[in-house]
Amino acid sequence: MSAETAKFPRHVAIIMDGNGRWAQDRGLPRSQGHRAGAESVRRVVECCNDQGIEYLTLYAFSTENWRRPPGEVRALMGLLRDFLVQRREDLMKYEIRLNAIGELSKLPAYARKTLEDVRRETAPNTKGTLTLALSYGSRTEIVRAAKALAAKVLAGELTPEEITEERLARE
Ligand code: FPP
Repeated sequence: MSAETAKFPRHVAIIMDGNGRWAQDRGLPRSQGHRAGAESVRRVVECCNDQGIEYLTLYAFSTENWRRPPGEVRALMGLLRDFLVQRREDLMKYEIRLNAIGELSKLPAYARKTLEDVRRETAPNTKGTLTLALSYGSRTEIVRAAKALAAKVLAGELTPEEITEERLARE
């Protein structure tokens, strides 16, 4: 790693928040705040690529977000699909692999399908990883980490006694 790249972290995680307040402050509808949020994502991906940051994780849509008015949820899912369709080429150009975590089975079929298509297409890319956390929540994260640890125990790489809070946090 060069002195230049050493100044930057390898992994940046962002909780997408404040879209509504951003729009409200400008007298705009919330939907416009979400559109601006999606546009910021484009700039953040570009910036991480420029700075050589290998992992970018975006906490985009939490399990609580399903309780928003149906029209807003639909608009957000549409924005997600549009983002994936529009940024697909950039991900290939920057050699970024798309990954997704969360309860993906809860996403509407059109968003899930696009996500799967882009995930498959970008799978061979090795320069960076963009992870979208969708329908994410602390319980989902704990289940995911528990599954990963259980797999390591099954593979004989770890004993149950070696599972500690620190070990769980690292998964
Ligand atoms: C938080 O703002 C933002 C969200 C709940 C949704 C963000 C998701 C998208 C813009 C969909 C597209 C996703 C990607 C990855 C491009 P808020 O509405 O909670 O704002 P507030 O806290 O000010 O009300």
